[in-house]
Amino acid sequence: MTDVKLGLVGLGVMGSNLALNIVDNGFPLAVYNRRMDVTEQFMQDAGPLAGRLHATESPEALVARLTAPRAIIMMVTAGAAVDSVIASLLPHLDPGDIIIDAGNADFNNTRRREKELADQGVRFVGMGVSGGAEGARNGPSIMVGGAPEAYARIQDAIEAIAADYEGESCAAHLGPDGAGHFVKTVHNGIEYADMQIIAEAYGLMRSAGKTPDGMAKVFQDWNKGALKSYLIEITAEVLAAKDPGTDQPMVDVILDRAGQKGTGRWTLIEALKLGQSASTIEAAVGARSWSSQKELRVQGETILDKATDHAPNLSDNDLEKALLAARIIAYAQGFSLLAEASDHFAWSLDLARTAEIWRAGCIIRAALLDDISDAFRGEMQGGNLMFAPSFAARMAETVPSLRKVVAEAAMAGQPSPAFASALSYFDTMHTGRGTAALIQGQRDFFGEHGFERVDREGDGFHGPWVKQPG
Ligand code: 6PG
Repeated sequence: MTDVKLGLVGLGVMGSNLALNIVDNGFPLAVYNRRMDVTEQFMQDAGPLAGRLHATESPEALVARLTAPRAIIMMVTAGAAVDSVIASLLPHLDPGDIIIDAGNADFNNTRRREKELADQGVRFVGMGVSGGAEGARNGPSIMVGGAPEAYARIQDAIEAIAADYEGESCAAHLGPDGAGHFVKTVHNGIEYADMQIIAEAYGLMRSAGKTPDGMAKVFQDWNKGALKSYLIEITAEVLAAKDPGTDQPMVDVILDRAGQKGTGRWTLIEALKLGQSASTIEAAVGARSWSSQKELRVQGETILDKATDHAPNLSDNDLEKALLAARIIAYAQGFSLLAEASDHFAWSLDLARTAEIWRAGCIIRAALLDDISDAFRGEMQGGNLMFAPSFAARMAETVPSLRKVVAEAAMAGQPSPAFASALSYFDTMHTGRGTAALIQGQRDFFGEHGFERVDREGDGFHGPWVKQPG
């Protein structure tokens, strides 16, 4: 009987593609899915690869089919399903076995699960996998967290199945416990921001009268320049597509209500908990929520004044530069959040390596990531990506266009929350003396909260409006 060390639970879209990728790379794999008919169908569809796949009928049978020390990958819906799969496997596992959660987990759960399983001698690896179905099949970007010894045991397989960027695997062990899932969450937050700024550029072009076909060409052109990325590429394809039923542009027949499964929201929650604000990501998550209030917006169109709304007057070149500026700002915020979390949880995250493994396989793969990793490897100053000399120069080149876009969108009555948030972040970061002195004054006025002074050491000073202590 073939010696099988790797198992996989969950044969949904991502799980089945990952399973095929694993066996295609020469690693025999035992699989289990809660519904046996799904497993049977998967085995049938696997064609010649089925020879390296071993279907099992229960968690117990899966564990029994594997030779210890085992490594079992779970690709199931985040949340309670993960705990229930772990509970079903655990009684059959031996100390030293590894469970790998390859779904989009909340990293707080990953930290908890790692601790709980460690008590039983079982290793837990939280592994972020990006790239959708196609990436899972042909090479995703893989962000691994957990004990380095556990990763060492699965490294060969993980690196083999990951995407490849100029000969380098886009998989890396990034830190202990929840580090991998945290990085994946922030990846998704950046994904939300990037998708939102692209949607805002589309909205501005649409209001100016461009057709979806016309916009598709613009996005195709942009994909040849500094914006080159998977999301710009697929935007061109989405805009060019026709609805087979009506021959209308596909984008015109899709209802303007965006779904979300939670990773964008998790990014914000963690940013706020860490005393940060990833405002471009926040705007993107908020915009998805507003998009779901379709009825309200339709009603608002008939009630709220639109007298000054007009077709925005912006060149493709300004939109391109504004997209680049806002994209850099979204990355800057995402990486600041990673740096903050790394300090807080003592993860020692390697930001350059993170940027490197995002260069291929994942949804946010973009030409810019090569420059980002270079900046983090070399010229970085003060921790903020925008301050690296090459990025500061790019901001100087592109922010004037971002200003034009935000100003024109505002005057035209076009929503551009992510562009505007990105610009406000930039403006805040280039203003040494901000406006919080007044907030401190207000806080002290009504609550005697005290403040620091610019001309003396210490805190707890009060203004003349409150009685001085003592
Ligand atoms: C990826 C994607 C993937 C998925 C998310 C986002 O990296 O492959 O981020 O994880 O698309 O689930 O989905 P929502 O937009 O539904 O939140």
